[in-house]
Amino acid sequence: MIDPMPDIKLRPVRREDLPLLHVDHTEDPVDSFGWTATNALERAYAADGLLAYDQGTLIIQDADGAAAGRVSWRPVPHGPNLPSRALSIGTRLRPAFRGRGLGTVGKRLVAAYLFETTTFERLQAETDVENVPAQRSLEKAGFTREGIARHAQFRGGAYHDLVVYSRLRGDS
Ligand SMILES: CC(C)(COP(=O)(O)OP(=O)(O)OC[C@H]1O[C@@H](n2cnc3c(N)ncnc32)[C@H](O)[C@@H]1OP(=O)(O)O)[C@@H](O)C(=O)NCCC(=O)NCCS
Repeated sequence: MIDPMPDIKLRPVRREDLPLLHVDHTEDPVDSFGWTATNALERAYAADGLLAYDQGTLIIQDADGAAAGRVSWRPVPHGPNLPSRALSIGTRLRPAFRGRGLGTVGKRLVAAYLFETTTFERLQAETDVENVPAQRSLEKAGFTREGIARHAQFRGGAYHDLVVYSRLRGDS
């Protein structure tokens, strides 16, 4: 597929991006997963620059060079052996950058990056059943809807149903 937004790029996190990621982790009431240690990101950044083989974060940079948001991934086990691990992808844009397709391009770019640089077979993503923009964005990014994981996520004092999506190596 021809990239519809060739000026949108992924790049590694820089130290000056940490406040953006910190807000993402601690101040957005949508998530309400609880506080994160205020030095957690700094420690993780000092450890590996938020770029390990099976866990990482990249900045989605817009055509003007602005940090529009981030895309990250972490391993999810589906069995006891290493090949049974998938990578779960999460995307978050700063509010002013939403609704312009940047998150969708970010998901496409990170899928291509992970299939090129790791041997993982399965990427997946989970989003709240009420998060219609995220679901639409995942579908536009080539992810397939698999079903509902009931009461899979606890946040904001309640359990929430998640929609599970996947993209396999070789999916177009
Ligand atoms: C979800 C997110 C990453 C999507 O990225 P994005 O660049 O804003 O998405 P896009 O602009 O490509 O498109 C979103 C789609 O949802 C649609 N949409 C937006 N708001 C909608 C709504 N309230 N109801 C239905 N559809 C909606 C858009 O119309 C678009 O579909 P279309 O292209 O068919 O018109 C981004 O909005 C974001 O960061 N949201 C907050 C964090 C979040 O929810 N992350 C996902 C957690 S799992």
